[in-house]
Amino acid sequence: MKKFLLSLFAVALMLPARADEGMWVPMLIGKNYDEMQRLGLKLSKDDLYSINHASLKDAIVQFAGGCTAEVISDNGLLLTNHHCGYDAIAGLSTVEKNYLDNGFWAHNMSEELPAPGVTVIFLQKMEDVTDEVMKAVGNAKGEEYNKKFAEISKKIEDRETGKDKYTVANVKEYFNGNQILLLVYKRYVDVRLVGTPPKSLGKFGGDTDNWMWPRHTSDFSMFRIYAGKDNMPAPYAATNVPYKPKKFLPVSIKGEHEGDYAMIYGYPGRTNRYEVSYGVDLSIRDVNPSIVSIRDLRLSIMRKHMAEDKTIYLKLTSLYARIANYWKYFIGQTEQLKRLNVVEKKKKQEEKFTQWASENNYDAGLMDRYEKIYAEYTPYAKHAVYYGECFRSSAVARLGSSLEPLRKWLEKKDNNQDSLKKYITALKTGRRAIMKEFDYGTEKDMMAQMTKMYYDEVPKPQLPDIYQKVIFKKFGKYNSDKTYEDYTAYVFNNTFLIDSVKFNAFCDAPSVEKIDKDAAAEYAMSYVDNFTKNYLPKVEAFSNQKKELSKEYIKGLMEMKQGKLFYPDANSTMRITYGKVLSYDPQDAVHYNYFTTLDGLMAKYKPGSDEFDVPQQLIDLYKKKDYGRYADEDGTLHTCFITNNDITGGNSGSPVINANGELIGAAFDGNWEAMSGDIAFDKKYKRTIVCDVRYILFLIDKMGHAKNLIKEMDIRE
Ligand code: ARG
Repeated sequence: MKKFLLSLFAVALMLPARADEGMWVPMLIGKNYDEMQRLGLKLSKDDLYSINHASLKDAIVQFAGGCTAEVISDNGLLLTNHHCGYDAIAGLSTVEKNYLDNGFWAHNMSEELPAPGVTVIFLQKMEDVTDEVMKAVGNAKGEEYNKKFAEISKKIEDRETGKDKYTVANVKEYFNGNQILLLVYKRYVDVRLVGTPPKSLGKFGGDTDNWMWPRHTSDFSMFRIYAGKDNMPAPYAATNVPYKPKKFLPVSIKGEHEGDYAMIYGYPGRTNRYEVSYGVDLSIRDVNPSIVSIRDLRLSIMRKHMAEDKTIYLKLTSLYARIANYWKYFIGQTEQLKRLNVVEKKKKQEEKFTQWASENNYDAGLMDRYEKIYAEYTPYAKHAVYYGECFRSSAVARLGSSLEPLRKWLEKKDNNQDSLKKYITALKTGRRAIMKEFDYGTEKDMMAQMTKMYYDEVPKPQLPDIYQKVIFKKFGKYNSDKTYEDYTAYVFNNTFLIDSVKFNAFCDAPSVEKIDKDAAAEYAMSYVDNFTKNYLPKVEAFSNQKKELSKEYIKGLMEMKQGKLFYPDANSTMRITYGKVLSYDPQDAVHYNYFTTLDGLMAKYKPGSDEFDVPQQLIDLYKKKDYGRYADEDGTLHTCFITNNDITGGNSGSPVINANGELIGAAFDGNWEAMSGDIAFDKKYKRTIVCDVRYILFLIDKMGHAKNLIKEMDIRE
């Protein structure tokens, strides 16, 4: 397999690659180098990726598990998005010291705030382990494959992680399992908040502007990595020192123009570019509308309680933002999948594929098999969404479910105290994470309304027995709001999971009897049992079969289009995408320029608005046109710009880098007209939205007065 892929890559070398589309694997980026140069890149191959000396990859980290950040000084200063630092910023804020609302700037290192739980990983190396893994899994399929894959992965990972506890190793599938790479990272765990603009600017435009261009958000925040005296990772200690990077990015304030070379390094999370028409159709009809309507309800419940009390607001705002972000994402994705006729386009590609397959001795029945597995899965697709999104919206549901592994173990009457300890620790860790975002009033409404919604929306024969056995039997015969409110009140009064004294007492002496007597456990287990026994096997069978088919599909496509350079779907590993600064036409007769300005921001200004208010300080700076050296040559202050780079969620915070390897902005979003991009890249519409680094520096300098940070960076005029 590996040989087959490599030979394809080799052929591809001679043909021009495509700019814009593509999330390329850094280790293999040499294949794209000629095209990158043609577009204007001035760096050498080794500057892009090397394991022997410092290269761009050494300045890029995965931030807090789901975002990207870049090192921008030789003292480990990090730039990422505001929405990536949001959880940490809200967590460090109180009603009295509200950094989220007011912003925060450390004017020297001793003012920087430890951000517990925030960690970053640096990529050390990537290695092709396809042969070793393929040998170990042989011809295994389905669950058998998953098991063998997990075993060999662990063996390979252990070889690396044995060295020290801050080394992280992951074996990952690329091209849906056709190629396997090992990635080795170093994790730094002492990360501190250095600065953030106030939320009014860092989230300017709120959910209204989210996923949209033109945009005026200064979506950035700054952190710093600390290390032990030996520059190695170390747990937080006051004596830790700023991390000395192998490489950091200089910053260019020369400004960018239409057509300028732009590339992005980062950690894109997930794309599904090889999805077939049947899958797109199911998303449009069932999956996406279900997610959106559940989130509509969840968000409205949260909004009501957050408006009542500032403390509740601070507790829930990060969770709210995460849910709202993908609520709007699924609305946009559905709209664009329809507008761009993605089902039709995929169908045409699939017909061509089948035609080719029948002429070339490949598997001509592949698409029929796709159709069959989708038909079999469809009756359960909605339930799977409701289980994950509706039932599990409620914290009590998640708390109750978290008892399941412990209950199973207790039932076995194994007396091993060590494993008991492990279960209890896992239970406590899980509960701590849930309680961080637990508000009593919100959760009562959440459970009552989600329980009702589940009943209303999941096909009746698929429902768990809690409705007939407990809810309707004891709390009202009818499916009415009052029935669910009464039942929820009963559950809240008869569980040890919410109150920490009761919870700790349970942990000190756990038993199956106590779990079975607990009303929240009874509630949750009814759903968990029903789903895991009757429907999870269908979900798993479907996803295993789909994975096998897609592996074959991609392999076939590569044979069919020999010479074309392929890139694998995003899988939360480091990728490079390159292209240029570029405007676009969103619809007939409409042109969108490639940059926005502070004038445009002020035109959106709405005093007192939750999303479009602006601090007085910025208004004053705007009136004086006090932009200093951060002004564009046109005299305005540019706020954001767009490129045709190919990014997705997880790339948030990624550096946008010019032809000389200098930072020109922080990527933070995609645009509405291309929201179908994770499933089908549309060259005409797809853009990356970037916060201009000059706007970032302006806010640090003129609003934050953090000259210390400006001095620390290598700014190129
Ligand atoms: N849509 C952005 C992304 O996923 C996040 C934007 C955060 N801002 C917001 N208003 N929710 O990359």
